[in-house]
Amino acid sequence: MAVTRTFSIIKPDATRRNLTGAVTKMLEDAGLRVVASKRIHMTEDQAGGFYEVHKERPFYGELVEFMTSGPVVVQVLEGEDAVKRNRDVMGATNPADAEEGTIRKTYAESIEANTVHGSDSDENAKIEIDFFFNEDEIVG
Ligand code: TYD
Repeated sequence: MAVTRTFSIIKPDATRRNLTGAVTKMLEDAGLRVVASKRIHMTEDQAGGFYEVHKERPFYGELVEFMTSGPVVVQVLEGEDAVKRNRDVMGATNPADAEEGTIRKTYAESIEANTVHGSDSDENAKIEIDFFFNEDEIVG
């Protein structure tokens, strides 16, 4: 299977509880390699732009507020079939529906404060990586 890239965010609920290392370990144990990483505090413009696809959804405003409520860690992950591998270890959006052993089952507080973001397709992974990283910040 091809080695591909995906984009991940360790969300404010996780950085607030000092879980950056614990979440990253679960990603690494799932066969993903962190090839770029930075801790940032998103501006409202950044969070609003990043979640633009959800603009018409009822939770959009609160989601932008949550994503700007504290620092996040944005990462580029590399591995075989990285998008699916990451989605599998993340678990379902709502932690109540997530399987045992997934990041969200283990750590998420709610459907909103759900610890991690992960791209849902190779196409979106590229768009999301380009949103936060220059190519020279990614070291494979
Ligand atoms: P979505 O793309 O549906 O889920 P995923 O993160 O698993 O790809 O939604 C994006 C984020 O929006 C989700 O991680 C948390 C937030 N969200 C809510 O706050 N409430 C909701 O009802 C949904 C569906 C999502």
